[in-house]
Parts: sequence; C-alpha cells; structure tokens
Amino acid sequence: MLLTSHYHILLSALLCILACSSLQKWQPLDTDLVNVQHHHPDIKIQDLKTGYKLYIEQCSGCHALHHPSEYSITQWDSILPEMFSQAKINNPNEKLFIKQYLYSKTKSQN
Ligand code: HEC
Repeated sequence: MLLTSHYHILLSALLCILACSSLQKWQPLDTDLVNVQHHHPDIKIQDLKTGYKLYIEQCSGCHALHHPSEYSITQWDSILPEMFSQAKINNPNEKLFIKQYLYSKTKSQN
C-alpha cells in the first residue's frame, strides 16, 4: 500500500518535470506575440493561447505534435488544409487560431 502510493508520487513528480520543462517551448510567449503582430497587429496573447489549446487538442490524435518551428509559414500553409480536414476542423475561427499560433512560433516569418 505505502509502497504503491510512494511510487505514484514519484511518478507524478517525474511526469511533471518532463512536461513542465518542455511546456515553455510550446506555450505562446510575449515574444511570439510580437512576431505575429508584425503581420496581424490586432492579435492578442489570448488568441495565441486559444490556438495553442486547439492545436494540442485537435492535432495530437494521430501523430506526435510537430513543433511549430519545424516548418516555415509557407510550409504550414501547404500542410494545414489537409490536416484541417484530417482533424475535421471546419470552423474558420478555429482554423485561424491554430494558424496564428503556429505562425507565431514558426522558424522564419515567411
Ligand atoms: C486523423 C488523423 C490526423 C489528424 C487528426 C491530424 N493529422 Fe497530421 N498527419 C496525419 C497523417 C496520416 C500524416 C502523414 C501523411 C501525410 O503527410 O499526409 C500527417 C502528417 C502531418 C505533418 C507532417 C507533414 C509533412 O509533410 O512533413 C504535420 C506537420 C501535421 N500532420 C500537422 C497536423 C496538424 C496541425 C493537425 C491538426 C490540425 C493534424 N496534423 C491532425 C494524420 C492526422
């Protein structure tokens, strides 16, 4: 009994260390907001957070998530239409939130 609960605590701590250290890499930061505001001045940090949440929820079902910086904006633009239909995302706002999140962290701004 005691052994099992210790094991659980240890496991949760371990998972948190893994998840918490990599989280920073994925979360929308103020520097990402500045990137995307060059092209879309009206975007708010809250919009990027919505996109991030949707991205994690909708895009991790079939394969591991790709970090936004793996692709350029041009590459994302050619990948996304197919993946939106794979994920059955039809709502234009949801598409936009995900796009803006990805653009804000892409490897180059073009
Ligand atoms: C129903 C399953 C499914 C869902 C949901 C899904 N994908 Fe995919 N994804 C695939 C498959 C299958 C491939 C590999 C074959 C391909 O490239 O078409 C892939 C490949 C990719 C690639 C690599 C493409 C390349 O050419 O290197 C990226 C990036 C990607 N998906 C992003 C996304 C994003 C963003 C979403 C959410 C909008 C998403 N995926 C949701 C099935 C899915």
